[in-house]
Amino acid sequence: MGNVRQVAVVVGSLRKESFCRKIAHALAEYAPANLQLQIVEIGALTLYNQDLDEAPPASWVTFREEIKKADALLFVTPEYNRSTPGVLKNAVDIGSRPYGHSVWNGKPGAVLSATPGGLGAFGANHHLRQALVFLNVPTMQQPEGYYANAGTFFDDAGRVTNEDAKRHLKQFIDAFGNWVEKILEQ
Ligand code: FNR
Repeated sequence: MGNVRQVAVVVGSLRKESFCRKIAHALAEYAPANLQLQIVEIGALTLYNQDLDEAPPASWVTFREEIKKADALLFVTPEYNRSTPGVLKNAVDIGSRPYGHSVWNGKPGAVLSATPGGLGAFGANHHLRQALVFLNVPTMQQPEGYYANAGTFFDDAGRVTNEDAKRHLKQFIDAFGNWVEKILEQ
């Protein structure tokens, strides 16, 4: 058996009933044997402030360590005002500093966006991708993951029951399993 790659999952919503969080749980369930998914929480991170770089808050230190330990990165994000939620951008910025010591650097990644609306949160997905280009995160291109009408995916227990969504999520996480190996074996 090959290596099991640890995937840090960053969910861009703090909402208890978050569709994105439910999707993250579904992806963990559907993941191929080479991936182990673990959500890294971002809700308690002190807001990024460059003045704190010399004596970083404990919440930043723990977060950076958790990301550093991971082999790969999976972002599951909603869209706020056609962009990424501030909490997610805050986490991205914290992980990126101090300059030259970004914990994101070189790790294979993927971005999935979801919304109860009709447009699939494309704007959030691509704003995040823009930052990931700079942060040198080789991000899976295909399949793209824009999930519209996400409010209709789940049963009362939060499990995905929509068959189309389930099939696409499985394809997405299988493709990511291949992508992670491809990048890590380079
Ligand atoms: C939203 N929502 C939203 N949806 C969308 O498709 N495009 C958008 O630009 C926005 N903008 C937006 C701004 C703010 C401040 C809020 C609170 C919400 C709706 C959003 O998709 C919805 O609240 C989702 O349920 C958020 O994702 P989670 O929390 O379910 O994962």
